[in-house]
Amino acid sequence: MNIKKEILKLKEERNAVILAHNYQLGEVQDIADFTGDSLELARKATDIDSDVIVFCGVHFMAETAAILNTDKTVLLPAKDAGCPMADMITGDQLRELKAKHPKAKVLCYVNSTAEIKAESDCCVTSSNALAVAKSYPADQEIIFVPDRHLGGYTAEQLHREFILWPGFCPTHACFMAEQIAESRKQHPDALVLVHPESPKPVRDAADQVLSTGGMCRFALKSDNTSFIIGTEVGIIHRLQLENPDKSFFALHDRAICPNMKKIDLEKVFWSLKDMETKIVVPEDIAIKAKLSIEKMLSLS
Ligand code: 13P
Ligand code: SF4
Repeated sequence: MNIKKEILKLKEERNAVILAHNYQLGEVQDIADFTGDSLELARKATDIDSDVIVFCGVHFMAETAAILNTDKTVLLPAKDAGCPMADMITGDQLRELKAKHPKAKVLCYVNSTAEIKAESDCCVTSSNALAVAKSYPADQEIIFVPDRHLGGYTAEQLHREFILWPGFCPTHACFMAEQIAESRKQHPDALVLVHPESPKPVRDAADQVLSTGGMCRFALKSDNTSFIIGTEVGIIHRLQLENPDKSFFALHDRAICPNMKKIDLEKVFWSLKDMETKIVVPEDIAIKAKLSIEKMLSLS
């Protein structure tokens, strides 16, 4: 069986669209209708005519698409593809933190559960956290959950202090500034692009701190021809495809998010065939979570 042909046939029969995150396997990115970062995917999810969305990413991304599309079926081809960072804070923990800081506004990274989004004032992604945070008065107390690195980076840019939840991404937390120094020795002309989920010493040693979508746009526009990429290695597939004459080197070739790699062509096929796994968010949570996602979309 030609699996690509079968997927395209099923996609038509089901009136489905395939969305993929920049970290997905190359074969999945290649069959997707749209590949992007979390913000681009959330925006895309507000503008879909199809009845079915096959979301090739992790659970919180499919959940966000489901919250924005209550009239559509959202499928996650690997039901166990979660984001460990999103699971580092529970609703009860956030409610407790809010009770300690009753005047604070809560910004939640989109890498969070629907329950956390529902408890937050506004959602952010790695590409709009600064713009969203800037929209609050300078003296406004801010709680930022769950990523202490993106939260710390955003506060730092604004010369402010946030109340940070100590969450982190296990894939990005492993990067070290020493790896950048070593990589620069091997590729002296390369620019170093890192994701804001990286620890501060890594961000400080980089040339640019960007979301995955920001990295794609930067590489396309830049006159530079080589880049050291400090994020999950799956993005190199897209960078190389869009910039065939430029070179991309992984800051660390084992910077792999195991959850992002749970989806392959076979899983996409079975997802469309069996219409599994459907992502459904309880209505009371979805209504509140939608407000924080829509506020973010209106601010960025
Ligand atoms: P982006 O929004 O930059 O694509 O990041 C998503 C993510 O999960 C990073 O680890
Ligand atoms: Fe979550 Fe990190 Fe994987 Fe992104 S790379 S989905 S933050 S574990």
